[in-house]
Amino acid sequence: PEAFRSLGARRVLVHGDGLLVDTVLHEVSRACARYGGRVWHSPSWDVDVDLVFALRGADELPSSVVRAARSAGESALAEIGDGGSLGDEGFLLARDGDVTVVLADAPAGLLYGLFHVVRLCAAAFDPERPPERHRPALHRRMLDHWDNVAVHPVMGQVERGYAGGSIFWRDGRPCGDLARIREYGRLLAASGVNAISVNNVNVARTEALLLTDRLGDVAEIADVLRPYHIRVHLSVTFAAPVVLGGLSTADPLDEGVRAWWAATTRTVYDRIPDFGGYVVKADSEGQPGPFTYGRDHADGANMLAEALAPLGGVVHWRAFVYNHHQDWRDRSTDRARAAYDHFAPLDGRFRTNVVVQVKFGPVDFQTREPVSPVIAAMPATRIAVELQVTQEYTGQQRHVCHLGPWWSEVLRFAPWGPDGRAVADVAAGESGAGGGLVAVANVGDDLFWTGHPLAQANLYTFGRLAWDPRRDPTAVLDEWITLTFPPSATADPDLVRRTLHEIMDDSWRTYERYTAPLGVGFMVNPGDHYGPGVDGYEYTRWGTYHFADRDGVGVDRTRASGTGFTGQYPPYWAQVYESLETCPDELLLFFHHVPYGHVLHSGSTVIQHIYDTHFAGVEEVTAMRRRWRTLNGMIDPAVYERVAERLDEQVRCATEWRDQINTYFYRKSGMLDERGRDIY
Ligand code: GCU
Repeated sequence: PEAFRSLGARRVLVHGDGLLVDTVLHEVSRACARYGGRVWHSPSWDVDVDLVFALRGADELPSSVVRAARSAGESALAEIGDGGSLGDEGFLLARDGDVTVVLADAPAGLLYGLFHVVRLCAAAFDPERPPERHRPALHRRMLDHWDNVAVHPVMGQVERGYAGGSIFWRDGRPCGDLARIREYGRLLAASGVNAISVNNVNVARTEALLLTDRLGDVAEIADVLRPYHIRVHLSVTFAAPVVLGGLSTADPLDEGVRAWWAATTRTVYDRIPDFGGYVVKADSEGQPGPFTYGRDHADGANMLAEALAPLGGVVHWRAFVYNHHQDWRDRSTDRARAAYDHFAPLDGRFRTNVVVQVKFGPVDFQTREPVSPVIAAMPATRIAVELQVTQEYTGQQRHVCHLGPWWSEVLRFAPWGPDGRAVADVAAGESGAGGGLVAVANVGDDLFWTGHPLAQANLYTFGRLAWDPRRDPTAVLDEWITLTFPPSATADPDLVRRTLHEIMDDSWRTYERYTAPLGVGFMVNPGDHYGPGVDGYEYTRWGTYHFADRDGVGVDRTRASGTGFTGQYPPYWAQVYESLETCPDELLLFFHHVPYGHVLHSGSTVIQHIYDTHFAGVEEVTAMRRRWRTLNGMIDPAVYERVAERLDEQVRCATEWRDQINTYFYRKSGMLDERGRDIY
């Protein structure tokens, strides 16, 4: 509530009607009731105000205040340059004398404008503030919940969830806390997210029923989130016609199957008119899919797209498809190659309401991976890039790991070479027609929403980068810190802010330092993926190996002598990654198998780099904990305690990583640490 203080003390006019305008009105009224301001809704007389929210439309304007605000907005738009449309979600912030004006073409723009004013606090009322126009770069900014309705015997209520139970489901039913879901919608809207999928991509029996018998449960969530401009999507099983419809086949080319999907989808829209569409994990890690019927992914996706098209829905068809029954003895099968091998040949075959949803890296949400080559390989397909906000491989919300800098690197990466378009441009598409940005959610029913209170910053940063991928992630983090630890609520605001930056700014790189080295990936405990398990996946069927022996480590993915994966990139990166001379250090072991004595661009050898970074990583975590302790007494004690507890665990776990990794490589290589530190 502190963040609403500045807005809540003003005189505010909200002009317009409809569900989203009502939300703006409700938010402003709530803030004004708390902080002594006043609000008017579409008054027909003139009032003295500090802030106006208005639509640009051509309806009757009885109030000269709104007329003035609009015309000030129009001239500001002209001044900015393009004067054109603000779009479905954009808004303008301008000053008209003493009044701040928020103008939009559509109600959603007013909602986002409201949260912008909240973020700016007093700065939104600065007379010198030049006009600003904001429009999201990406049209769909979506979170996928991997929430199960029934508790899964292995994965629990939320697959890869580290924040308690689900906010939607509990023990096989809706959890019923609609007020909390509404607060969640508010949180998402404030971050810029506009779509969610409410169940796990691995769809089991109970979850399959959300499409039919339990549709009412989904509709209830959609009703609660609608006022915050969030569209609800559903993960469905490809086998639905068989498991729900009693048909003998789910073959996508079968007329009966197509009719079943068309009819079922119509029923969904009867109940949820703004339903977003389906999310599908098919022929992946045991999920059913079109391969069973000798069809391909385009056949499968297009069938669902055909059912959704007349109703305005999309299919998010995931490209996370690989052989999870690999034999570690087989050196030619490379999991990194799989998504490209399956999907690139299908470019051009997908209907326009199919979005191929691609994990940002070729393997699986690792702390460091190259960008997936699929992103550059399907120019005729709408691509959504998938990130992981839930920290499956990045410390599971027990470790501080601010992922903004990592996502920013991914989104700015230019797959065709430095002068070409960036990953974010592909996700945005030509004239906004791209698939957008999607991430696996990190929220649960935990008191602090995300388990680790500082993991909230990842959720916020995801939304903000999806709105504007060019933003500096540290500036976004600064916004989050200021909103979460507002100056008036803390004893020494500068100290709190500075300390949080010191702890969080570089925390992803710190995490990288004490875990798997130089892009080699995994080395986690199998199953739960937490903590070091250097050989945990070395002889398994999952296809994630590091191939360390007494001479060297890394995966040869070159065309010259390895799996040929480098050849999946456009020429610029294919060449950079292929050559030891040009391959970036941080990805060296992803692309090459090298001797421990290999000298990096940094000047260090691989083995010495491993030792140095692992010692440094633990020192940095210890420093984080020390810094956090200086905040004792300055912030909410419950937040303080929770973070303090988790930092103890992070120090313990980082130490374990350091000692296991260092010892493992010392034993393999027999090479001593130049600095003679403790290795076991
Ligand atoms: C990872 C994760 C799984 C998940 C899968 C996916 O492999 O460990 O739990 O199902 O990604 O993205 O589908």
